[in-house]
Amino acid sequence: MSVFAVAPDKCNFCGMCAIECPAGIIVIKDPEALPSLADGGEAMCMNCGHCVAVCPPGAIRLKTMKPEDCALVSTELLPAPEQVEHFLLSRRSVRVYREDPVPREMLAKLIDIARYAPSAHNSQPVQWLVIEDTKEVKRLTGLVVDWMRSLIKESPWLADLLPLDLIVAAWESGVDVIMRDAPHVIVGHAHRDSASAQNDGVIALTYLELAAYSLDLGACWAGFFHFAATSYPPMLEALQLPEGHQCLGAMMIGYSKHKLRRIPLRNEPTIIWR
Ligand SMILES: Cc1cc2nc3c(=O)[nH]c(=O)nc-3n(C[C@H](O)[C@H](O)[C@H](O)COP(=O)(O)O)c2cc1C
Repeated sequence: MSVFAVAPDKCNFCGMCAIECPAGIIVIKDPEALPSLADGGEAMCMNCGHCVAVCPPGAIRLKTMKPEDCALVSTELLPAPEQVEHFLLSRRSVRVYREDPVPREMLAKLIDIARYAPSAHNSQPVQWLVIEDTKEVKRLTGLVVDWMRSLIKESPWLADLLPLDLIVAAWESGVDVIMRDAPHVIVGHAHRDSASAQNDGVIALTYLELAAYSLDLGACWAGFFHFAATSYPPMLEALQLPEGHQCLGAMMIGYSKHKLRRIPLRNEPTIIWR
């Protein structure tokens, strides 16, 4: 089967697929002809599915995507603008977690939503490592502390800036200000050869954080964990990411102990209008 096929009995010849295709590879040779792929189009198709998504009668299928497998957008399920605004403004980083674990199905749900994040050229390079075991989160946090200790020795100016000595001292006194005793951590990773992976990873993790909030879970970016996971060999070894992969970011996950009741103020935007 070609990468792109049109059901002749369903196509209404509206031409929207050709207009919508971001690669411009769908052609309609004459008004009565079915849409088809331009010469060389197969190689240029990025499987984004916009042709499938826009086709009113569901006449188009891709090798990887049948219209009947693609859920219809439900306008009733879409939140109103003020709901979206309130949702985005009220999301907070959660740093105080309950001890009880999050069921695997919910962790999987977060990733299932995050895979719909935009990615450059629809490359979808982000893969996931879920540290479900809280003891393992602790062990990895211990390695982040070791990385901090090495940085204090090797780059004291940077260590002072962060300030790592206080974080290490807190850890030594039993207080975890690195992973905040979060029961789980979700790591986004991708092959080093993926040119857009850094951006794609941040966007996918942002989707994941928002999905967590929608499911009443707490989440917080794990910046120190990410630093250690990209630069500290014992941490790289412990993570055992697939060959050639790099860590793109990490998210603490758990149930929030507190309800954050107000929306704190943020800076006014700096905007240049032209
Ligand atoms: C890339 C990135 C890394 C972060 N790393 C940490 C971290 O290591 N520990 C932490 O407690 N918060 C971390 N945060 C959360 C920020 O401190 C937080 O987003 C900011 O203070 C604003 O608060 P809010 O998310 O509740 O609006 C990080 C956020 C981002 C975007």
